[in-house]
Amino acid sequence: MTRLSFSDTVKGEERDGILVVTIANPPVNATSASVRAGLMAALAHSSDRPHLAGLVLTSTGTTFIGGADIREFGLPPVEPILPVVVEAIEAHDKPVVAALNGAALGGGLEVALACHARLALPSAVVALPEVKLGLLPGAGGTQRLPRLIGAVEAMEMIASGRTVKAGDAQSHGILDDIVEQDLATQAIALARTLAEQELRRTGDLAPPALDTSAFDEAAAKILAKARGQKAPAEAVRLVRLACEIPLPDGLAAERQAFLSLRDGSESKALRHVFFAEREAGKVAALAGIAPRPIETIGIAGLGLMGSGIAVAALGVGLTVIGLDQTPEAAAKGRERIVGVIEKSVASGRLSRAAADAQVSRLSVTATDADLTAADLVIEAVFDDLAVKIDLFRRLDAVLRPDAILATNTSYLDPDAIAAATAIPERVLGLHFFSPAHIMRLLEVVRCARTAPDVLATGLALAKRLKKLAVVTGVTEGFIGNRIFSAYRREAEFLIEDGALPHEIDAALEAFGFPMGLFAVYDMAGLEIAWARRKRQAATRDPAERYVPIADRLCELGRFGQKAGRGWYAYPDGKRQVDPEVTTLIESCRTEKGITPQSFSSDEILARLLSAMALEGRALLTEGIAARESDIDLVMINGYGFPAHKGGPMFWSPGA
Ligand code: 3HC
Repeated sequence: MTRLSFSDTVKGEERDGILVVTIANPPVNATSASVRAGLMAALAHSSDRPHLAGLVLTSTGTTFIGGADIREFGLPPVEPILPVVVEAIEAHDKPVVAALNGAALGGGLEVALACHARLALPSAVVALPEVKLGLLPGAGGTQRLPRLIGAVEAMEMIASGRTVKAGDAQSHGILDDIVEQDLATQAIALARTLAEQELRRTGDLAPPALDTSAFDEAAAKILAKARGQKAPAEAVRLVRLACEIPLPDGLAAERQAFLSLRDGSESKALRHVFFAEREAGKVAALAGIAPRPIETIGIAGLGLMGSGIAVAALGVGLTVIGLDQTPEAAAKGRERIVGVIEKSVASGRLSRAAADAQVSRLSVTATDADLTAADLVIEAVFDDLAVKIDLFRRLDAVLRPDAILATNTSYLDPDAIAAATAIPERVLGLHFFSPAHIMRLLEVVRCARTAPDVLATGLALAKRLKKLAVVTGVTEGFIGNRIFSAYRREAEFLIEDGALPHEIDAALEAFGFPMGLFAVYDMAGLEIAWARRKRQAATRDPAERYVPIADRLCELGRFGQKAGRGWYAYPDGKRQVDPEVTTLIESCRTEKGITPQSFSSDEILARLLSAMALEGRALLTEGIAARESDIDLVMINGYGFPAHKGGPMFWSPGA
């Protein structure tokens, strides 16, 4: 067997008259410049050697090709560009068989589509996830996939970016076959067979038929979820073009759209988010520190939050012991947890067997001592310092000394909670967002005395729970709620200064927030924040600007959507501007002698986003947040900031 090297990252060997080309470009075999050059060299090698009957293209590791190298996007292009490589593969006069040893994503699937046949291991998946980066497939995906599987299905895959498992990919016609083992050997055999036949080139297939009404209906569904982003709309347009114009024209249109999106603000923002997510949770000081093993989790407090955490933990194979104040409360908590799991069964997201296995790992109790088996206990009781301190003292007395204690407090000082225990080094904060089994964000709170391996364990647990962990220091409200408070304060100042709630909400929704701030208040209910403000009233600095409008609304019983009235009126359940609220706002302004100004949508946004970014800067200066990108992730994943705008710090650099 002759070993060949086509570039640093592309190697080859001749087997049974077939050139087996292997990409080795860890971590995900992206099509970096050296891979593209290596593939071209491999094709040239094949062309020059009549004794070779064809090629097999595969990779090392568990990813076939993770896509184009996203890190190259901001840099000057290096030839050959991927579309050229893809076209050369398709045009090759000997069969090229893609042997998918794992995920073929983005440019990776485009390479595979250009091959003359595709085999895959059962573990392989395929996707054109470019829209998630604000992009389109840029190497023929929008033109070849519809020719292979039809316009509607291709459009749905490309405009949503969804991942398709090997079995489904085969039934759709993306994969020719799935092989359990000996992938390369079977691909070699297929290449030899294809060498005897006329090659099936995806680009030569007839343009797909266009069923306009089915296409438009499917497109409307996807675009409704896209919140005005450009890439999904472009994906729809390009797939439609694939049905209407010849391949070379379609490819040219795709390239133009790809470049324009790549250089546009949405893609830059989404690429920032992609790398921010991979950076989050990395703590240099923890290098080499092993987390403690966690298999059994105690959850103290089985209300909405505690139950959600339990569902998340059971879902990833952990054993859960739930604790509540009385056997009745514990039983109710169990019912709530099982109820959520059963809902997943009813909707087909979870099998009966998997649900039964999850429930079998759940026990509940009203006795503290039953938590002794727990490796880590998360407290999710009422957010009151005395209650939490009492609980932590009791838990401290019954848990093993190596067990970890986590508080899920949103606003209280976890250092004060830790100080009540004998071993404060084992205490940290795990601030989940509600509903905890759905929301991805988890603020991992490093308390003053948290031991490094305890913090490492918090991060490892977050990963196991499939959460996006962001480390925060201790401050009131941590990263998210502190920025949210600054944002909220600014919104209320804006109201006093002359804007109306619906104008602020319209500006936020046009920017991409799923719901404006005042609509969110109404949905959540105004009474809890009112009670908190009343508690804080005695200690509030009288010199501080205070906006009393929300209090006045509550005094009138306008507690939000549930009450049918809040910042808005909901006469038939639908949000509506209420002149009574406008009058109330105007009279509050008059009382303070404020002459209202009018604000454009851009001015409203500028004030709100700057307030967020300024608070973010303060968090960085105070050492509460480690990096700007962590702040962006918190606001995107916890508070509805649109990902395609990159987050408040990305949006307002240097604020
Ligand atoms: N380019 C450059 N780096 C990439 C990359 C890519 N396409 N995909 C992943 N990486 C890097 C990550 O940044 C990370 O680097 P780090 O270790 O320095 O932080 C490392 O690879 C591992 O990534 P993950 O932590 O995400 O590893 P996982 O195993 O969890 O997931 C994956 C692997 C499923 C491949 C995931 O990384 C992923 O979804 N990648 C992006 C896939 C994608 O969007 N491809 C399309 C790219 S655009 C394109 O192809 C355009 C074309 O049409 C022209």
